[in-house]
Amino acid sequence: MNFFDIQDKVILVTGALGLIGKEISCGFLSQGAKVVLADLNESAIPGVQADLESRYPADRFLVLPLDITREESIGHCISNIISAFGRIDVLINNAAIDAKFDKENSSNINPSRFEHYPIDLLRRSVEVNLTGTVLITQHVCRQMLAQGQGNIINVASTYSLVAPNQSLYDFGEGIKNFKPIDYIATKSFIPNFTRYIATFYSKDNIRCNAIVPHGIYNQHDEKFLVNFSKMSPLGRMCERGELNGPFTFLASEASSYMTGSVLVVDGGWTAW
Ligand SMILES: NC(=O)c1ccc[n+]([C@@H]2O[C@H](COP(=O)([O-])OP(=O)(O)OC[C@H]3O[C@@H](n4cnc5c(N)ncnc54)[C@H](O)[C@@H]3O)[C@@H](O)[C@H]2O)c1
Repeated sequence: MNFFDIQDKVILVTGALGLIGKEISCGFLSQGAKVVLADLNESAIPGVQADLESRYPADRFLVLPLDITREESIGHCISNIISAFGRIDVLINNAAIDAKFDKENSSNINPSRFEHYPIDLLRRSVEVNLTGTVLITQHVCRQMLAQGQGNIINVASTYSLVAPNQSLYDFGEGIKNFKPIDYIATKSFIPNFTRYIATFYSKDNIRCNAIVPHGIYNQHDEKFLVNFSKMSPLGRMCERGELNGPFTFLASEASSYMTGSVLVVDGGWTAW
Protein backbone atom coordinates (compact mmCIF):
# COMPACT_ATOMS: atom_id res chain seq x y z
CA MET A 1 0.00 0.00 0.00
CA ASN A 2 1.22 3.51 -0.87
CA PHE A 3 0.31 5.65 2.14
CA PHE A 4 1.36 8.75 0.22
CA ASP A 5 -1.03 8.15 -2.70
CA ILE A 6 -2.59 11.38 -3.99
CA GLN A 7 -3.77 9.97 -7.32
CA ASP A 8 -6.93 11.81 -8.50
CA LYS A 9 -7.10 14.08 -5.46
CA VAL A 10 -8.31 17.55 -6.50
CA ILE A 11 -5.80 20.02 -5.06
CA LEU A 12 -6.28 23.80 -5.17
CA VAL A 13 -3.03 25.75 -4.77
CA THR A 14 -3.34 29.52 -4.24
CA GLY A 15 -0.44 31.73 -5.31
CA ALA A 16 0.44 28.81 -7.58
CA LEU A 17 2.46 30.74 -10.14
CA GLY A 18 5.12 31.80 -7.65
CA LEU A 19 8.26 29.96 -6.54
CA ILE A 20 6.79 27.40 -4.12
CA GLY A 21 3.32 27.17 -5.69
CA LYS A 22 4.62 26.20 -9.12
CA GLU A 23 7.04 23.64 -7.69
CA ILE A 24 4.49 21.83 -5.53
CA SER A 25 1.78 22.01 -8.22
CA CYS A 26 4.10 20.21 -10.66
CA GLY A 27 5.04 17.77 -7.89
CA PHE A 28 1.36 16.93 -7.34
CA LEU A 29 0.71 16.61 -11.09
CA SER A 30 3.65 14.22 -11.43
CA GLN A 31 2.00 12.00 -8.82
CA GLY A 32 -1.34 11.84 -10.66
CA ALA A 33 -3.31 14.46 -8.72
CA LYS A 34 -5.71 16.89 -10.42
CA VAL A 35 -4.31 20.33 -9.70
CA VAL A 36 -5.80 23.82 -9.84
CA LEU A 37 -3.13 26.50 -10.07
CA ALA A 38 -4.77 29.79 -9.04
CA ASP A 39 -2.99 33.13 -8.86
CA LEU A 40 -3.41 36.90 -8.96
CA ASN A 41 -0.80 37.18 -11.70
CA GLU A 42 -3.08 36.81 -14.73
CA SER A 43 -0.39 37.81 -17.23
CA ALA A 44 1.64 34.69 -16.35
CA ILE A 45 -1.28 32.30 -16.94
CA PRO A 46 -0.85 31.68 -20.72
CA GLY A 47 2.87 30.84 -20.33
CA VAL A 48 2.24 28.45 -17.43
CA GLN A 49 -0.71 26.88 -19.26
CA ALA A 50 1.49 26.20 -22.32
CA ASP A 51 4.34 24.85 -20.19
CA LEU A 52 2.05 22.46 -18.29
CA GLU A 53 0.31 21.29 -21.50
CA SER A 54 3.70 20.18 -22.80
CA ARG A 55 4.28 18.03 -19.69
CA TYR A 56 0.93 16.80 -18.34
CA PRO A 57 -2.46 15.72 -19.79
CA ALA A 58 -4.62 18.85 -20.22
CA ASP A 59 -7.57 17.28 -18.35
CA ARG A 60 -5.48 16.99 -15.14
CA PHE A 61 -5.06 20.68 -14.37
CA LEU A 62 -6.60 24.15 -14.52
CA VAL A 63 -4.73 27.46 -14.40
CA LEU A 64 -7.13 30.10 -13.09
CA PRO A 65 -7.05 33.77 -12.06
CA LEU A 66 -7.72 34.27 -8.36
CA ASP A 67 -7.53 37.19 -5.98
CA ILE A 68 -7.95 35.80 -2.46
CA THR A 69 -8.96 39.25 -1.19
CA ARG A 70 -12.03 39.44 -3.47
CA GLU A 71 -15.15 37.32 -2.89
CA GLU A 72 -16.26 37.59 -6.52
CA SER A 73 -12.92 36.27 -7.77
CA ILE A 74 -13.02 33.41 -5.24
CA GLY A 75 -16.60 32.55 -6.28
CA HIS A 76 -15.63 32.36 -9.97
CA CYS A 77 -12.59 30.26 -9.23
CA ILE A 78 -14.50 27.73 -7.09
CA SER A 79 -17.36 27.37 -9.57
CA ASN A 80 -14.83 26.70 -12.37
CA ILE A 81 -13.20 24.01 -10.25
CA ILE A 82 -16.51 22.35 -9.39
CA SER A 83 -17.58 22.39 -13.07
CA ALA A 84 -14.30 20.75 -14.11
CA PHE A 85 -13.56 18.36 -11.23
CA GLY A 86 -16.70 18.28 -9.03
CA ARG A 87 -14.94 18.78 -5.70
CA ILE A 88 -11.92 20.21 -3.82
CA ASP A 89 -10.10 17.59 -1.75
CA VAL A 90 -7.16 19.73 -0.65
CA LEU A 91 -6.73 23.50 -0.30
CA ILE A 92 -3.18 24.80 -0.08
CA ASN A 93 -3.19 28.35 1.31
CA ASN A 94 0.09 29.39 -0.26
CA ALA A 95 -0.62 32.90 -1.65
CA ALA A 96 1.03 35.68 0.32
CA ILE A 97 2.98 38.88 -0.13
CA ASP A 98 6.32 39.67 1.42
CA ALA A 99 6.55 43.47 1.06
CA LYS A 100 10.04 44.57 0.13
CA PHE A 101 11.40 47.70 1.74
CA ASP A 102 13.04 50.34 -0.40
CA LYS A 103 16.78 49.70 -0.18
CA GLU A 104 17.52 52.75 -2.34
CA ASN A 105 15.91 55.16 0.10
CA SER A 106 18.61 57.70 0.72
CA SER A 107 16.99 59.72 3.50
CA ASN A 108 18.20 59.49 7.08
CA ILE A 109 15.08 57.53 7.92
CA ASN A 110 15.46 53.82 7.27
CA PRO A 111 11.93 52.65 6.42
CA SER A 112 12.68 49.01 7.17
CA ARG A 113 13.33 49.84 10.84
CA PHE A 114 10.35 48.99 13.04
CA GLU A 115 9.83 52.53 14.34
CA HIS A 116 9.61 53.95 10.81
CA TYR A 117 7.93 51.13 8.89
CA PRO A 118 5.06 52.50 6.73
CA ILE A 119 1.80 51.36 8.30
CA ASP A 120 0.09 51.16 4.89
CA LEU A 121 2.44 48.32 3.92
CA LEU A 122 1.38 46.48 7.07
CA ARG A 123 -2.29 47.04 6.16
CA ARG A 124 -1.70 45.65 2.67
CA SER A 125 -0.03 42.52 4.06
CA VAL A 126 -2.88 42.03 6.54
CA GLU A 127 -5.37 42.34 3.67
CA VAL A 128 -3.71 39.56 1.66
CA ASN A 129 -1.91 37.27 4.11
CA LEU A 130 -4.51 37.35 6.89
CA THR A 131 -7.91 38.51 5.58
CA GLY A 132 -7.43 36.92 2.14
CA THR A 133 -6.41 33.60 3.68
CA VAL A 134 -9.49 33.63 5.92
CA LEU A 135 -11.78 34.57 3.00
CA ILE A 136 -10.68 31.82 0.60
CA THR A 137 -10.77 29.29 3.47
CA GLN A 138 -14.35 30.29 4.35
CA HIS A 139 -15.48 29.67 0.78
CA VAL A 140 -13.61 26.39 0.38
CA CYS A 141 -14.89 25.16 3.78
CA ARG A 142 -18.48 25.62 2.55
CA GLN A 143 -17.62 23.34 -0.38
CA MET A 144 -15.80 20.84 1.86
CA LEU A 145 -18.74 20.71 4.29
CA ALA A 146 -21.08 19.98 1.35
CA GLN A 147 -18.72 17.20 0.19
CA GLY A 148 -18.38 15.78 3.71
CA GLN A 149 -14.57 15.85 3.62
CA GLY A 150 -11.58 18.10 3.11
CA ASN A 151 -7.95 18.79 3.90
CA ILE A 152 -6.41 22.26 4.31
CA ILE A 153 -2.70 23.00 4.34
CA ASN A 154 -1.63 26.50 5.39
CA VAL A 155 1.80 27.73 4.35
CA ALA A 156 3.51 29.38 7.30
CA SER A 157 7.13 30.50 7.70
CA THR A 158 9.85 30.29 10.33
CA TYR A 159 8.78 33.88 10.98
CA SER A 160 5.46 32.39 12.14
CA LEU A 161 7.47 30.79 14.96
CA VAL A 162 10.50 32.94 15.73
CA ALA A 163 11.67 36.50 15.11
CA PRO A 164 14.08 37.17 12.26
CA ASN A 165 17.74 37.26 13.15
CA GLN A 166 18.30 40.68 11.58
CA SER A 167 21.99 40.02 11.01
CA LEU A 168 20.90 37.74 8.13
CA TYR A 169 20.07 40.94 6.22
CA ASP A 170 23.26 42.80 7.15
CA PHE A 171 25.62 42.67 4.20
CA GLY A 172 28.11 45.12 5.64
CA GLU A 173 26.98 47.82 3.21
CA GLY A 174 26.15 51.48 3.99
CA ILE A 175 22.40 51.34 4.70
CA LYS A 176 21.34 48.54 7.04
CA ASN A 177 18.51 46.27 5.94
CA PHE A 178 15.93 44.84 8.29
CA LYS A 179 13.21 42.28 7.75
CA PRO A 180 10.13 44.44 8.34
CA ILE A 181 7.25 43.81 10.70
CA ASP A 182 4.47 43.12 8.18
CA TYR A 183 5.57 39.64 7.11
CA ILE A 184 6.26 38.59 10.71
CA ALA A 185 2.91 39.94 11.95
CA THR A 186 0.83 38.32 9.22
CA LYS A 187 2.62 34.96 9.09
CA SER A 188 2.45 34.64 12.91
CA PHE A 189 -1.29 34.27 12.50
CA ILE A 190 -0.99 31.06 10.45
CA PRO A 191 -0.23 28.47 13.20
CA ASN A 192 -3.11 29.57 15.43
CA PHE A 193 -5.47 29.94 12.45
CA THR A 194 -4.52 26.34 11.62
CA ARG A 195 -5.44 25.22 15.14
CA TYR A 196 -8.69 27.21 14.98
CA ILE A 197 -9.80 25.59 11.70
CA ALA A 198 -8.60 22.13 12.78
CA THR A 199 -10.64 22.19 15.98
CA PHE A 200 -13.64 24.02 14.50
CA TYR A 201 -14.09 21.32 11.84
CA SER A 202 -12.77 18.34 13.79
CA LYS A 203 -16.18 16.60 13.66
CA ASP A 204 -16.72 17.39 9.97
CA ASN A 205 -13.98 15.25 8.44
CA ILE A 206 -11.97 18.34 7.53
CA ARG A 207 -8.32 18.33 8.60
CA CYS A 208 -6.10 21.40 8.74
CA ASN A 209 -2.33 21.52 9.20
CA ALA A 210 0.41 24.04 8.49
CA ILE A 211 3.81 23.66 6.93
CA VAL A 212 6.82 25.85 7.71
CA PRO A 213 9.20 26.19 4.77
CA HIS A 214 12.31 28.30 5.13
CA GLY A 215 14.80 29.92 2.80
CA ILE A 216 14.01 28.39 -0.58
CA TYR A 217 17.02 28.90 -2.86
CA ASN A 218 16.22 31.25 -5.74
CA GLN A 219 19.45 32.69 -7.14
CA HIS A 220 20.23 34.59 -3.95
CA ASP A 221 23.39 36.62 -3.98
CA GLU A 222 26.62 35.40 -2.44
CA LYS A 223 26.55 37.67 0.62
CA PHE A 224 23.11 36.43 1.60
CA LEU A 225 24.17 32.79 1.09
CA VAL A 226 27.21 33.25 3.33
CA ASN A 227 25.09 34.79 6.12
CA PHE A 228 22.41 32.13 5.71
CA SER A 229 24.76 29.15 5.79
CA LYS A 230 26.32 30.35 9.07
CA MET A 231 22.91 30.54 10.74
CA SER A 232 21.45 27.32 9.35
CA PRO A 233 22.19 24.05 11.17
CA LEU A 234 22.16 22.24 7.81
CA GLY A 235 24.38 25.03 6.47
CA ARG A 236 22.42 25.70 3.29
CA MET A 237 19.19 26.95 1.80
CA CYS A 238 16.32 24.60 0.87
CA GLU A 239 16.15 23.33 -2.71
CA ARG A 240 12.60 23.87 -3.96
CA GLY A 241 12.15 20.15 -4.79
CA GLU A 242 12.73 19.29 -1.11
CA LEU A 243 9.25 20.64 -0.34
CA ASN A 244 7.42 18.03 -2.43
CA GLY A 245 7.78 15.23 0.14
CA PRO A 246 6.40 17.21 3.12
CA PHE A 247 3.51 18.67 1.08
CA THR A 248 2.61 15.22 -0.30
CA PHE A 249 2.69 13.81 3.24
CA LEU A 250 0.16 16.39 4.47
CA ALA A 251 -2.02 16.10 1.33
CA SER A 252 -2.18 12.30 1.56
CA GLU A 253 -3.68 9.78 3.98
CA ALA A 254 -0.18 9.25 5.40
CA SER A 255 -1.03 12.18 7.70
CA SER A 256 -4.62 11.05 8.44
CA TYR A 257 -4.23 11.36 12.24
CA MET A 258 -2.74 14.85 12.01
CA THR A 259 -4.80 17.96 12.43
CA GLY A 260 -3.85 21.29 14.01
CA SER A 261 -0.16 20.46 13.53
CA VAL A 262 2.69 22.59 12.28
CA LEU A 263 5.21 20.64 10.20
CA VAL A 264 8.57 22.41 10.31
CA VAL A 265 10.79 22.04 7.22
CA ASP A 266 13.50 24.56 8.00
CA GLY A 267 16.87 22.78 7.94
CA GLY A 268 16.94 23.17 11.74
CA TRP A 269 16.68 27.00 11.67
CA THR A 270 14.35 27.10 14.69
CA ALA A 271 16.19 24.32 16.55
CA TRP A 272 18.81 26.59 18.12
N1 LIG B 1 10.26 31.45 -0.56
C1 LIG B 1 10.58 31.19 0.71
O1 LIG B 1 11.77 31.07 1.04
C2 LIG B 1 9.50 31.01 1.74
C3 LIG B 1 9.88 30.67 3.04
C4 LIG B 1 8.91 30.48 4.01
C5 LIG B 1 7.58 30.63 3.69
N2 LIG B 1 7.22 30.98 2.42
C6 LIG B 1 5.79 31.11 2.14
O2 LIG B 1 5.50 30.33 0.99
C7 LIG B 1 4.42 30.92 0.27
C8 LIG B 1 4.83 31.13 -1.18
O3 LIG B 1 5.99 31.92 -1.21
P1 LIG B 1 6.85 32.12 -2.55
O4 LIG B 1 8.25 32.29 -2.12
O5 LIG B 1 6.50 31.09 -3.54
O6 LIG B 1 6.32 33.55 -2.99
P2 LIG B 1 6.09 34.14 -4.44
O7 LIG B 1 6.05 35.62 -4.30
O8 LIG B 1 7.06 33.54 -5.42
O9 LIG B 1 4.63 33.61 -4.80
C9 LIG B 1 3.48 34.11 -4.19
C10 LIG B 1 2.37 34.08 -5.22
O10 LIG B 1 1.18 34.56 -4.58
C11 LIG B 1 0.48 35.34 -5.54
N3 LIG B 1 -0.43 36.26 -4.86
C12 LIG B 1 -0.12 37.42 -4.21
N4 LIG B 1 -1.23 38.02 -3.79
C13 LIG B 1 -2.28 37.22 -4.16
C14 LIG B 1 -3.68 37.31 -4.04
N5 LIG B 1 -4.26 38.37 -3.45
N6 LIG B 1 -4.45 36.33 -4.53
C15 LIG B 1 -3.88 35.25 -5.15
N7 LIG B 1 -2.55 35.12 -5.35
C16 LIG B 1 -1.76 36.10 -4.84
C17 LIG B 1 1.56 36.07 -6.32
O11 LIG B 1 1.08 36.51 -7.59
C18 LIG B 1 2.65 35.00 -6.43
O12 LIG B 1 2.55 34.24 -7.64
C19 LIG B 1 4.06 32.20 1.01
O13 LIG B 1 2.98 31.93 1.87
C20 LIG B 1 5.32 32.51 1.81
O14 LIG B 1 5.02 33.24 2.97
C21 LIG B 1 8.16 31.19 1.44
